[in-house]
Amino acid sequence: MKFHIQTWGCQMNDHDGEKLSGLLSVEGFEPVDSVEQAELVLLNTCSIREKAVHKVYSELGRLREVKQRRPLLVGVTGCPAQQEQAALFKRAPHIDFVLGTMALKQLPRLVAEAQAGMTRVMDTGEYPDNHLFPSSVTRRRDTAKALVTITEGCNHACTYCIVPTTRGAERHRPCEEVLAEVRSLATGGYREVELLGQNVNSYAGGCTFAELLERVSEVEGLEWIRFTTSHPMNFTRELARVLVTNPKVAPFLHLPLQSGSDRVLKRMSREYTVAEYLERLEYLGEGRAKLTLSTDFIVGFPGETDEDFEATMRVLDEVAFDGSFSFIYSPRPGTPSLRLKDDLPVGVKSERLTRLQQSQGRLTQASNDRFVGRQIPVRIETHGPTEHGWWLARSGEWKTIHLVAGPDRSLPFGELVQARITMASPHFLGAELV
Ligand code: 5AD
Ligand code: SF4
Repeated sequence: MKFHIQTWGCQMNDHDGEKLSGLLSVEGFEPVDSVEQAELVLLNTCSIREKAVHKVYSELGRLREVKQRRPLLVGVTGCPAQQEQAALFKRAPHIDFVLGTMALKQLPRLVAEAQAGMTRVMDTGEYPDNHLFPSSVTRRRDTAKALVTITEGCNHACTYCIVPTTRGAERHRPCEEVLAEVRSLATGGYREVELLGQNVNSYAGGCTFAELLERVSEVEGLEWIRFTTSHPMNFTRELARVLVTNPKVAPFLHLPLQSGSDRVLKRMSREYTVAEYLERLEYLGEGRAKLTLSTDFIVGFPGETDEDFEATMRVLDEVAFDGSFSFIYSPRPGTPSLRLKDDLPVGVKSERLTRLQQSQGRLTQASNDRFVGRQIPVRIETHGPTEHGWWLARSGEWKTIHLVAGPDRSLPFGELVQARITMASPHFLGAELV
């Protein structure tokens, strides 16, 4: 049977897609690149904001049309599957099975049941070993950079966030198991790993997260280690030290701030004040200058006043983030923030978002400008030059690089090369091969 998995959302979801693909491949199923070729389509979906959930229903609508023309099995997994459970069948009766986020290994069984003609097949149970996934099964998309789960779930309770409901409480993979996976990846030719968790900083699989980073960095053959994502309250001095001193840890930190107003942070239950967030950045000391720093903002949280928003704009400028992701608050089912009065007109929210993104655009341009003239290592991310003649690459600081290599050069995919930065635009750095 030919299957196609369509994934959107965060890196955790990307990696779940790789695990699910591996599970089906082990059973003898054949992966294909499009819905048209597939006999089984699995939607691996996201519900962090309402827009992502709309995409679930619009993709399901598309699949219903395909299913009217020919036999097709349709499965749904990811956060909306865990959240909606059997309600999904009501809204989209052509779904054959629903798989929860904490029951990934049940996929082959659910598919077999659906193939046998059972309808409305579902497993949204919490399997305590979900995070203990055999590395040999995972079917990774990239051959140079590998995603590696270290924790699943989140023990924080931000009032806007659906993740604690859809991904459950924290479970940590034992340190030795993470190391064994990383060693086998390095032996298999991987040069970079990204350690994944809803909150990697609270890692407790037998050592601290900082210790885990140090131990992973000792694995021979690895060139860069990245991690995502981090809660400021679990960002320790020890972690800051490892980040600025360990040459294998990529010089990039994503530390979500969400708002620059203490009043809003409190209503979000973020557990820190702006001053405490800034104190975490001070842990980085002078090493901070070598890093790029990015963050997340939610704009238009219920009750956000003009003053609250201006406070966010001031912190944005003060920290001068190299990049940020910003979103208008999206009410999520079952979250505590639904009880807060939200009477701010959507036009005001959009204006605030635009202003924030324009300011960030200027900061990102300034951050990119600082790279011009420098020589830095970058990893080649394409197998050949684009039609414009340059290669796509990525720096340790998470900058997108357009690399000119000369007409006769063939650059090895996945390798680190030295690049001299020649120009900076808002979205990428132009560079030439050294
Ligand atoms: N509305 C808008 N943005 C949200 N995020 C999480 N939940 C919501 C929501 N309900 C944002 C946060 C988080 C990022 C992954 O998504 O900024 O850090
Ligand atoms: Fe959601 Fe907050 Fe946990 Fe992040 S830290 S996943 S925003 S509850």
